[in-house]
Amino acid sequence: MHDIIEQLEKKRGGARLGGGKRRIDAQHAKGKLTARERLDLLLDEGTFEEWDMFVEHRCADFGMAEQKVPGDGVVTGYGMINGRLVFVFSQDFTVFGGALSEAHAEKICKVMDQAMKVGAPVIGLNDSGGARIQEGVASLGGYAEVFQRNVMASGVIPQISLIMGPCAGGAVYSPAMTDFIFMVRDSSYMFVTGPEVVKTVTHEEVTAEQLGGAGTHTTQSGVADLAFANDVEALLMLRRFFNYLPLNNRDGPPLRPSGDVPDREDLSLDTLVPDSPNKAYDMKELILKVVDDGDFFELQADYAKNIVVGFGRMAGYSVGIVANNPQVLAGCLDIKSSIKAARFVRFCDAFSIPVITFVDVPGFMPGTSQEYGGIIKHGAKLLYAYAECTVPKVTVITRKAYGGAYDVMSSKHLRGDVNFAWPNAEIAVMGAKGAVEIIFREDKGDPAKLAAREAEYKARFANPFVAGARGYIDDVIQPHETRRRICRSLAMLKDKKLQNPWRKHGNIPL
Ligand code: HXC
Repeated sequence: MHDIIEQLEKKRGGARLGGGKRRIDAQHAKGKLTARERLDLLLDEGTFEEWDMFVEHRCADFGMAEQKVPGDGVVTGYGMINGRLVFVFSQDFTVFGGALSEAHAEKICKVMDQAMKVGAPVIGLNDSGGARIQEGVASLGGYAEVFQRNVMASGVIPQISLIMGPCAGGAVYSPAMTDFIFMVRDSSYMFVTGPEVVKTVTHEEVTAEQLGGAGTHTTQSGVADLAFANDVEALLMLRRFFNYLPLNNRDGPPLRPSGDVPDREDLSLDTLVPDSPNKAYDMKELILKVVDDGDFFELQADYAKNIVVGFGRMAGYSVGIVANNPQVLAGCLDIKSSIKAARFVRFCDAFSIPVITFVDVPGFMPGTSQEYGGIIKHGAKLLYAYAECTVPKVTVITRKAYGGAYDVMSSKHLRGDVNFAWPNAEIAVMGAKGAVEIIFREDKGDPAKLAAREAEYKARFANPFVAGARGYIDDVIQPHETRRRICRSLAMLKDKKLQNPWRKHGNIPL
């Protein structure tokens, strides 16, 4: 017995030391924490229950039989974040560069399977050189086992990836199938093929950072949601982010009571929208003034800035917020913003988080680059996402709601539950100037007549009453009462039940 305990402690010590002091020092020298230090920061103190500390790889090729580290390069188990259950895996770069072996993959699959059984999110901390080269196809099989579980878990439990080191080759596809990807600046990168291969194939010279660093993926590709300065900041923000999410698709949005009363009014909102319809204003100011305690967790803040998405709380409950941003491209919908918002709306819908939409949209972005890029198909993604969405939907038109974009942005016709407009809202097929140039083409040579037609069109359509007369909006509200009216709507909608017809799955325009 004594022997066994001694052996146990020895193995535990070996696992805790990972690839050894030299490699741990090297990890620290790069400004990175170790796999275990990361879990210590992510989870509530003393809550981590580790599994499979004694798992070893089974590879005997290339001298691997003599190189076994208990745990095999990934620390797995479960713990709590602010008292709520979460399953975790944290790849240990000090053991074979965190490379994924068959056994390493089995450990990840085990926590994913258990998370599915009990209904709790999975967070993966990725820091890996990819497939364990010595293992060959066994490692590839391991990846595919993880991929399959990512897909089965999608929409059942939230999955979050934090990229804290290399993530290259096919390995990128596991994070890609999770709901959210966060990255650490300067120490993490993701790409399908690295700079060397790129140079050989396309003759482009790029650094790993340029090709797949946090900056690239949060501004250019939209692959990642947010980038953080270092491991500590990333882990602490991930803890904050976790608080907004339900544990699974049957759980409902978490409640975090706040002293911010639901009927708080904000008179400054009455002057938020400028008199001139061509002048921009800060939509985020509206969001911050409406949500509980001014606490808004924005996602993809540096990508497709013409639309804003993120989580807040109303009367304590998590809500998803989607808002056109008149400060960028006048708030037009384009390819990137449609995809960004569609994915967000679908996450909210899958996890029963109500969606609040603030609308100020002059239409879809015109131009060859948009048409050649497939704005038809990509714009349809957002339309599809709102239309299939069955969670409570509250919409506020703050100014423009023109054309197809009016329909798309959670309109009544797409089963918006409560649709408000501010008094200055303009709901029409298009702006007055463009409209009269088309329907009164014969007056083109007569500017005075055209101006009169424009004024007439504006008077007729640049207001919320035409839509109101048809019941397309439920009420015209004062900007200062926006929070109160949304909170009341959400309270009314708390037990909303709506089901789409049975089908195997829809065919969203991908
Ligand atoms: C086995 C690996 C490894 C791997 C790194 N190591 N990657 N061992 N399999 N894939 C080991 C190294 O031998 C080294 O061991 C230790 O990890 C640290 O690696 P270094 O190279 O010293 O670190 P660094 O300079 O920081 O470079 C990190 C790296 C580089 C950029 C990740 O190691 C690298 O390029 N590795 C190979 C990446 C790769 O080609 N992977 C396969 C991709 S294909 P010692 O003992 O010296 O500490 C793939 C397909 C997946 O992943 C398909 C899924 C469908």
